[in-house]
Amino acid sequence: MKVAFASEAAPTKDSAVVRFVPRDQRAKLTPAVSEEEFSGKANALLYSRHDGTLCVGLGERAKINAQTLRSAAGAAVMFLKKIGRLRAVVQLEDWPQFSGAVVEGMVLADYRFERFKTPKVTALESVRIQVLAEDLAQAKVAGRRGETVGEAANLARDVANQPANLLYPETLAARAVKLGTDFKLKVTVFDEKKLRAGKFGGLIAVGQGSERGPRLIVIEHRGGPRSQAPIALVGKAITFDTGGISIKPAANMEDMIFDKCGGMAVLGAMAAIAELKVKRNVVGIIASAENMPSGSAYRPGDIITTYDGKHVEIINTDAEGRMVLADAIAYARLDHKAAAIIDLATLTGACGVALGDYAAGFWSNDDAFGKRVLGAAERAGERLWPMPLFTEFEDQIKSEVALIKNSGGRLGGACTGAAFLKVFAESTPWAHLDIAFMAHREKDRADMARGATGFGVRTLVELVEAW
Ligand code: BES
Ligand code: MN
Ligand code: ZN
Repeated sequence: MKVAFASEAAPTKDSAVVRFVPRDQRAKLTPAVSEEEFSGKANALLYSRHDGTLCVGLGERAKINAQTLRSAAGAAVMFLKKIGRLRAVVQLEDWPQFSGAVVEGMVLADYRFERFKTPKVTALESVRIQVLAEDLAQAKVAGRRGETVGEAANLARDVANQPANLLYPETLAARAVKLGTDFKLKVTVFDEKKLRAGKFGGLIAVGQGSERGPRLIVIEHRGGPRSQAPIALVGKAITFDTGGISIKPAANMEDMIFDKCGGMAVLGAMAAIAELKVKRNVVGIIASAENMPSGSAYRPGDIITTYDGKHVEIINTDAEGRMVLADAIAYARLDHKAAAIIDLATLTGACGVALGDYAAGFWSNDDAFGKRVLGAAERAGERLWPMPLFTEFEDQIKSEVALIKNSGGRLGGACTGAAFLKVFAESTPWAHLDIAFMAHREKDRADMARGATGFGVRTLVELVEAW
């Protein structure tokens, strides 16, 4: 999809014309339309085949924000692709401040995972964003940023959508190395040998049941002074989670290809951060393994020593995400002296029980850092919901034989997961996002195709840029 910006009216021959309509303007449309035909509610659509105009509702004027436009622009693209109108002029004269969100939404809506599908849905050819002459320069800068971030999220989605027979720790690491070449990022891969030598006990334990060994992938962006402590973006990338010896039921197990989405958010964010030349040091750390049951798999009852020398009793091998993250968080703290650590993980089913698929769970050990993350997510249009770190959750994961155990049982499952990770951040400002039910969608939505969503990419980029 090619994106252009212009202030003069464009020839609209064979282009659809997209107009954004707040609810209070519905009555002013000519010719008049009924409430049933077009309500003007958010993402409501009205298409006129006669002149190729597509009106997209924005809902109540007082509630309109960047996310409203991002989603409305996405809904327009989903519709245009469906009817095969592949060129669009977007009339943004009244909303130039949302140029970034609009382009981002259009890029996100243009993506669909169809590598193995025929026939394929054709992507949009071109989009022309039209604003007033005095708004053109600013709208263009914001629009290009939106394009970069949208494409980075699509990169994350595209890797996340690959099945586990094709994408496993080794091939993921190769993909990250290619990303490093494409975006001028330093990429270091710890293979099994190096992980063993470095005593990454959590990653080794989770990965040892699979024929396909684990990897720790480190991606460095040096945009700040040499001595500046980096922000660490840490992601769980389990390329397939069977549960291991504590094996999962068969139903929906195929969705566990998406258990790598935390790591994919980090991958996408690093691409955007490099492309935007953010003036800050950032390190992306992706902990990748395949969780399989086998004769060499780790077991319930095993006692594992993590990278920072802490002892963990394994209660449930399906609580593998926290084991690989323990190593990655400790590594960010000890080897990179991170100024702050944010981790993203499809960590618990319990998070979906608590929040549905409407928000990611959010925990932090530091109010100031937590506020930054929440602010970034708000601006990015990704919903987080603050969750508690009661000391009782820490009690719940105390072990009789080690420092802690990797499961605290059913009650408060998302919170005991967070309490576990907190131990490995120690006194470094840290935040944890449980994206288990935000990372993928089973069905198409109004503004985005099914599959991986790229959740987290936008928040991470926003967080680092606004630091
Ligand atoms: N990857 C799963 C969490 C998950 C479940 C994500 C469903 C998306 C949909 C994670 O590794 C896991 O299995 N967590 C366990 C933790 C428990 C054993 C303490 C869970 O949620 O049951
Ligand atoms: Mn699991
Ligand atoms: Zn998992």
